[in-house]
Amino acid sequence: MLNVTSPWALILSLLTAIVSISYYNNNPSAPEIRSPHCASWNAWYNPLRSGQVGYQANDWNILYHLGGNGPWIEKIDELETPGLEPPKGCVIDQVHMHFASGFFGLDWAKTEKAALEIIPETLERGADTLTPGDTCPKYIEDPAKGHDNGVNMLALFQDVYIPAIAERLINDENNSALGYLTNLEVYGMQEMCGFETLSRGSSPWCDIFTHDDWENFEYARDLIHYYRAGPGNPYAGAMGWLWLNATTGLLRSGPEAGTIVHDGDIAPLVTAMDILKDPKYDPFLPTTHRVEDRVWRTSSVMPMGGRIVFERLTCPTSSAKDPSGEEAFLRVNINDKIVPLPYCKSGPGLSCPLKEFVDHVERRRSEVGDFGEVCGLEKDVGYITFLRQG
Ligand SMILES: *[C@@H]1O[C@H](CO)[C@@H](O)[C@H](O)[C@H]1NC(C)=O
Ligand SMILES: *[C@@H]1O[C@H](CO)[C@@H](O)[C@H](O)[C@H]1NC(C)=O
Repeated sequence: MLNVTSPWALILSLLTAIVSISYYNNNPSAPEIRSPHCASWNAWYNPLRSGQVGYQANDWNILYHLGGNGPWIEKIDELETPGLEPPKGCVIDQVHMHFASGFFGLDWAKTEKAALEIIPETLERGADTLTPGDTCPKYIEDPAKGHDNGVNMLALFQDVYIPAIAERLINDENNSALGYLTNLEVYGMQEMCGFETLSRGSSPWCDIFTHDDWENFEYARDLIHYYRAGPGNPYAGAMGWLWLNATTGLLRSGPEAGTIVHDGDIAPLVTAMDILKDPKYDPFLPTTHRVEDRVWRTSSVMPMGGRIVFERLTCPTSSAKDPSGEEAFLRVNINDKIVPLPYCKSGPGLSCPLKEFVDHVERRRSEVGDFGEVCGLEKDVGYITFLRQG
């Protein structure tokens, strides 16, 4: 029998991505477009505009929002006015507060059930960090294989699947007044479907794309993760291994600890664990076409609010010599689905004996490389010191 005594260590994906929409008012008399195939375009308005009561004339006018006035979706860090991001050098702590409230109860601070420890995201912390992407100089600087590898590979695939969609939206749907749509604009509309669904419950942007468009979008998202912080990135495994090692240490020490990191760390962690190992494609997922038989499908691993939970199990031993004994096992719960480790599933319910898991973590270290060496750091980089019990 499986005896789940302590589902404990936990990573919460805190989705902080923010989409900002800027409207331009330099063509207020633009004609309305009413395409029966794009009814949703005419039914979309800006939910963020303050003081809005009901709809206003231009809310329904897609040309007003898109037409020739671009760029109509801007990244917030390109805006000159203060955005929703915290000011430079500041961090928002509320997310962790809210996490603690949900996990330990609203009175966690008063009853001292948990203490808040703030870990800076600065370069000099070396390996003693929750944000290895910010402390690995080679990852930041390597223009070909580093952080930018993700967007570069994404752009290659965007160029494969998006022009046909833009063509359809402009020509087949009688929207020639829009002129053209760039790859980024169409990709932005697809992202908008997700972000708006999250914030408003539904999004009319979802309706203008076909099922095949969505399969391509899913693949495009897989590519950016794969090459930015996944198996296609030579730094990812070493970055994710730091947290994996620290958490493994906690798992060994007993059932009473928990840790949480942010969503940007899920891909390196998944890579360090080798849980989505793909013998056919790793480390080159094609950018020229979508491959259906890939193992790296991140939509179910890193969706909005995605999370990975390491569950430490204590189970009776099966050994005849010691029938009353107990043994610790690990299993990985990804968004409420138990995902067996491909290399270790001999325990109850396809779990991994904790002792064996420790060996795999050591083995992965030699495969992914030492953080300091991989990242080009010369001094002693240390290790994660702040994840500990009590
Ligand atoms: C586009 O316009 C043409 C010519 O007016 C018309 O025949 C066609 O039905 C229109 N298509 C759509 C999708 O509105
Ligand atoms: C791995 O974690 C342990 C704690 O369990 C720590 O003592 C050790 O230094 C870590 N190793 C590296 C290379 O970070």
